[in-house]
Amino acid sequence: MQIKKITFLVLAAALSISLAACGNSQTTAVTSSQDKRQAESTQIANSSEAKETESAQTENKTEDQQTETAAENESSAGNSILILYFSADNTKDVDAVSSATPMADGMASVEWIANIIHDNVGGELIPIIPSEDYPLEYEALADYAKKERDNGGRPAFENLSIDPASYDVVFVGYPIWWYEMPMIMDTFFDTYDFSGTTIIPFNTHAGSRDGGTYSDIKEMEPNAAVLDGLAVLGEDVGKDGTKEAVISWLQGLDLE
Ligand SMILES: Cc1cc2nc3c(=O)[nH]c(=O)nc-3n(C[C@H](O)[C@H](O)[C@H](O)COP(=O)(O)O)c2cc1C
Repeated sequence: MQIKKITFLVLAAALSISLAACGNSQTTAVTSSQDKRQAESTQIANSSEAKETESAQTENKTEDQQTETAAENESSAGNSILILYFSADNTKDVDAVSSATPMADGMASVEWIANIIHDNVGGELIPIIPSEDYPLEYEALADYAKKERDNGGRPAFENLSIDPASYDVVFVGYPIWWYEMPMIMDTFFDTYDFSGTTIIPFNTHAGSRDGGTYSDIKEMEPNAAVLDGLAVLGEDVGKDGTKEAVISWLQGLDLE
């Protein structure tokens, strides 16, 4: 354990130095324009005929939008897919940059992988956003996360407005913090019952691989089928071959 810790601290220090100058983060914002469109359509109508025509058009539009959304959430094999991910970089302050976060293409490592998954299997991509922002400087975050873990913290996250059990397949992404999942992931699994779904974990790390977290998820979600997931070295994101490795893993999942 002592050797493991020293190895991680050396890796973490190297990571911290090499990442200090990394680029900007992006937070995926999911917005709906449906309400706005409906409000606009009621303002425009002048005659009862125009009103009828417009409301018929609006209804059609709404149906079309629902069909589109349902289609977007389905893989080519017909599975309904949800992709959720947490990273310290998922702060509400969209301009924040975490020195504790390996970045590629302007995205934190977990987000980068989440986007590859989304690009290749479709579905709905949703960030888990902490209610309280995490400190983004490496040492501060390390201390904060350690206290959170030692105290058995259950940090809150913003409402996700989803019913996870209504999906067939739920990808769940997170970094390894202090040899395990960030405590906010415990809050997440405490909050949702994934009975009947297939959970596919993916994570980034600096040497601990999955840290036993796939077993932890299996314990927390005994009525879900929890697959052994994909662990990616944080510093490998954006490098040659990493994207291909993620895609190859996805192809092997047999999501039909
Ligand atoms: C607070 C903290 C604790 C960490 N603990 C570990 C650890 O125990 N084992 C490990 O392999 N990596 C550890 N790391 C490294 C992260 O898992 C790695 O940098 C990951 O890519 C971060 O994901 P992100 O880019 O989405 O923020 C830690 C990083 C931080 C910030």
